[in-house]
Parts: sequence; structure tokens; C-alpha cells
Amino acid sequence: MNISLIEYEIIDSTNDEALKLARSGADEGVCVLARQQTAGRGRQGRTWMSERDAGLYFSIILRPNLETKFLPLITLMTGVAVHDTLREFGIKPDIKWVNDVHVNGKKISGILAETTETDTGLAVIVGVGINIRASNYPPEIADIATSIESETGTAVSIEELAEQLGKFIEYFYGLLNEENGPDAIIGEWAKRSTYFSGKHVRVEQSGHILTGVTDGLEPNGGLRLRTDDGIVIVQAGDVTQLRADRLNFSR
Ligand code: BTN
Repeated sequence: MNISLIEYEIIDSTNDEALKLARSGADEGVCVLARQQTAGRGRQGRTWMSERDAGLYFSIILRPNLETKFLPLITLMTGVAVHDTLREFGIKPDIKWVNDVHVNGKKISGILAETTETDTGLAVIVGVGINIRASNYPPEIADIATSIESETGTAVSIEELAEQLGKFIEYFYGLLNEENGPDAIIGEWAKRSTYFSGKHVRVEQSGHILTGVTDGLEPNGGLRLRTDDGIVIVQAGDVTQLRADRLNFSR
């Protein structure tokens, strides 16, 4: 895969632009980067704050040749790449299933993967937002959000961050496409996430709440949750760590 960057000063959403480019035939590896987004999108219809020069707003076009059941692993692979990118800048992150990167329990990065059919087959757009400065989120969420500058005292350059991220995505996407790649990505994810096993969590799925203890991942990246009713496989949902005082010690 050849990584090539297309840079914008301001754009609605780098994911929307990458979706358009993919539909008009852009190659795998084309990345859209912007200094500011006016309509940055998060998961589940949420807004992704995208102040000028306060974050990395990056979307890459992938044209995977994977069995459909393994497509969710693209999100996990990207989480691993974001994790290793942040390590390069002196941060010790954790990956919260499925696609958030945290530092000391606060969110520093989110990933939004979207698929589209194109004339040359399925394309996956992987959007990554990384907070570089605290000005990228309102002060009232400072207890749940953080930035590279807040963690290290230094705001890195957008180009440098994008270059490292592109390099790690290229490496781990290559790994995913190898024989036994899906297992290898799950292994890499497990090494970098405290959510892999033994974590007491609450999962919210369209208003339905589940609680349990994490018990590894399924081959397609689904989260195995040990509940009072046995193992439940979670394919989508918002996971939060349960604090000790909210645990049910009845068993
Ligand atoms: C989330 O955690 O909800 C996912 C956030 C993803 C945000 C990024 S910023 C670059 C790309 N363009 C978008 O509109 N969204 C993603």
C-alpha cells in the first residue's frame, strides 16, 4: 500500500471526503488530512469536535481483500496503530473495546470506520481523530477527555503525527492481510488493551444494558462478556469500566 496524503485547510469531514474519493476510484492508501473540520462525525451520530490545529483529523481509504466476517478487525487494527503512534510521542495509552484510545481512563482518540460500495469493490474509510490540544474539547469534559499536550506538555505537529499513524496503519494492515492475520491482530490488540480480559464493564446497546467481566475476543473481534447468564458475545455497543463501588459482589 502506498500512503499518499491530501491536505485541506478546512473541510466538512475528512471521512465524507474520503468516501467521495473512494467512490470516484481513489486508490487504497489515499489519506485525507485537514487542519479543521466543520462537521466532524463520531460514532452513533455524535459530533467530533474539530477546532483548527487542535487535533489530527485523518481518514484513510482501504480496499480490503478480507473475508467479510473479518472486516470489524480493521477497527481493532487501527486502534493498535493509534496506540503505537501515541507511544512514539511518549504517551502510554490503553485501548477500550472497540475503538477508543484512552490515557489514564480519559479519551484521547476515536476511530470511525465506514464502508461504501465502489465500481472497483468495497472500500473501507477509516477515520481517526486524535486530540492534540485541550482546546479541542469543552473544559466541562476535561475529566473524561485528554490530549497529547495535556499528557506530555508538548503539542506535536499534525504532519508528524499523520506520518507516524500512516506508517503504523500500513504495517498492521499488512499484518491483517497475511495468512493468520486476523489472529495476529487479535494478539496485538490483546497486548495493548486492559479490556481484553478480567475487566468489569457495563455495555450499552441501544438502551439495553449488560454487565459482566471481559473474557477475550472472538475471532472477528467481538467482545466476550462473562455475565450471570453465561458468555455473551458483544459485536457493538458502548463499553464503560465499572467502578469498584458499582460492582455487584453477590456471587
Ligand atoms: C468516535 O470516537 O466517536 C469516533 C471519532 C472519529 C473522528 C474522526 S476525525 C477524522 C474523521 N472524520 C470524521 O468526520 N470523523 C473521523
